[in-house]
Amino acid sequence: MCGIIGYIGTRPATPILIGGLKRLEYRGYDSAGLALLDKNGLTTFKAVGKVARLVDKLRGDLSPEKHESYTVGIAHTRWATHGAPTEINAHPHFDKSRKICVVHNGIIENYRSIREKLQKLGHKFDSDTDTEALSRLIGVHYKGDLRLAVVQALQQVEGAYGIAVLSADEPNKIVVARKGSPLVIGMGDGECLVASDASALVSHTQRVIYLDDGDIGVITPDSVDIRNQDDEPITRGISELDLDAGAVEKGGFEHFMLKEIFEQPESVRNALRGRIDLSEGNSVLAGMQMSPKELAEIHRTILVGCGTSLHAGMVGEYAFEDVAGISSEVQQAAEFRYRNPIVDHHDMVIAISQSGETADTLAAIRKAKEKGTMVLGLVNVVGSAIARETGRGVFIHAGPEISVASTKAFTGQVAVLLLMALKLGRSRRLSQEHGVDLAQEINQLPELIDFVLKQNDAIAKVAERMAKSDHAFFIGRGPMHPVALEGALKLKEISYVHAEGYHAAELKHGPIALLTPGTPVIVLANQTSVLDKVWSNAEECKARGAHIIAVVTEGHAKTDLTDDIIVLPKCGPLVATIPAAVALQLLAYHVARIRGCSIDQPRNLAKSVTVE
Ligand code: M6R
Repeated sequence: MCGIIGYIGTRPATPILIGGLKRLEYRGYDSAGLALLDKNGLTTFKAVGKVARLVDKLRGDLSPEKHESYTVGIAHTRWATHGAPTEINAHPHFDKSRKICVVHNGIIENYRSIREKLQKLGHKFDSDTDTEALSRLIGVHYKGDLRLAVVQALQQVEGAYGIAVLSADEPNKIVVARKGSPLVIGMGDGECLVASDASALVSHTQRVIYLDDGDIGVITPDSVDIRNQDDEPITRGISELDLDAGAVEKGGFEHFMLKEIFEQPESVRNALRGRIDLSEGNSVLAGMQMSPKELAEIHRTILVGCGTSLHAGMVGEYAFEDVAGISSEVQQAAEFRYRNPIVDHHDMVIAISQSGETADTLAAIRKAKEKGTMVLGLVNVVGSAIARETGRGVFIHAGPEISVASTKAFTGQVAVLLLMALKLGRSRRLSQEHGVDLAQEINQLPELIDFVLKQNDAIAKVAERMAKSDHAFFIGRGPMHPVALEGALKLKEISYVHAEGYHAAELKHGPIALLTPGTPVIVLANQTSVLDKVWSNAEECKARGAHIIAVVTEGHAKTDLTDDIIVLPKCGPLVATIPAAVALQLLAYHVARIRGCSIDQPRNLAKSVTVE
């Protein structure tokens, strides 16, 4: 969670830091702060709320000439973990002398014991944060060498961190360190940057170095020195970012979420590019690094993830069983990490994550590896912790997803899971003929998504009719059950409408008691063998006065039963999950817009959940 940006060079630091914070705001937006350094020492600014509030403060407090003179600084946008979102708890945090300051992403787990020890030494803490324990500890160790003080302090720290540290006594450097929270260094011409996410660097440089856990670095305008925890120099390769600045801007859309919904024909095309073998009815997924024999020997797949990625995994479960005839299950990553999962070397764990940073998913991967199981990643962010920890898998190539509500990542994940199912299927029972049929359908996905996007205006009208309700139900069966869960998640997270997703057959086992006249029930009623059953479930809701919004295959609407209709293109039940999810994303988006919600940055949420 939390975003970090640091700059050292010859240009004015303030606009670079503020620009970076704006890019990183999706990681947390409770409060923001920055520290600027020049020969007179450190100057800090903090504000509660979004980065715009910090900008107002800077405008009032710093003359334009003063802005020009600072060429070194660090900044932070916060998602509160320890201590309320107040100005005092906003980063940067200082040491006792107030000559050293730190911005931090992660959690210092033993902060209480550090705090108590330091209090006994006479420290009076300003904030309630875990980070201040670290900043003060660095100060305790400081004897004129900031890097060494950081090394020594971190030896006493348990937990996760990505940090950037400044000292007024060493104005020509920023010390950075990473363990469990991402950090990437950007190398420019006579300048260096550091950020928790490459999207904050892309306007300044394409040349980056991803730090690994345990790395401690010193950056100056023209050098990067990285060492391990034993203080031995190490070399980390320079990567070229495959990202342009336009990809992290709104491009004329009112919100990132809408832009990302509309990007899906292209993002799914990117996920599929070069990966479908239409003539063989197979997929080409070199990143899995598995021979046909190895594929055929897998007994079971276990898909782990959280939130939207978990829902994608649930669609994958149906696909793996149906297409490949392979036993499959889905586990919430936080659950997998703490139970005693029964897995062995015949199993394949697939860790699904947009950000590649989710702490629980990362821990689940480590647990699976401990048990000797093969682990693959299904990740969007290249260079992320999960991508590196798994070492093999498939990138979904959705491009940067800025809106907190995940949209194009979901469809990319499902598209790749369908390709994996195809590959596993062809290594066992799936005939070439059936493989070709499925491959052709998957290949049509960009057009199938377009079909739904063309209904944007109609869906906005449906949203108008449901936006007044504070409750909604989403029901579906088979692979549409996880889509119902995902539709409900999208609606609740951005519009704050209480929404529940249920298996359609489950409604009458209890939840139907909550239905009152007018409650919207979104029924995923595409063409499947159980369609009649789904319609019966919809009838049961209609009989109780529910407002039925049906998501139906083209040409199969039941106008007598439905109050509103959203149409899906003709396609098979697995592939239909993707256009159906897009329809529900648009519905949630318009409800949230009509209700005047903060769509890209919903309350209490952050994009990457790097804490347990
Ligand atoms: O980055 P990840 O895919 O691992 O993130 C998992 C969840 O935190 C994420 O999907 C979350 O549920 C989103 N807010 C959903 O829109």
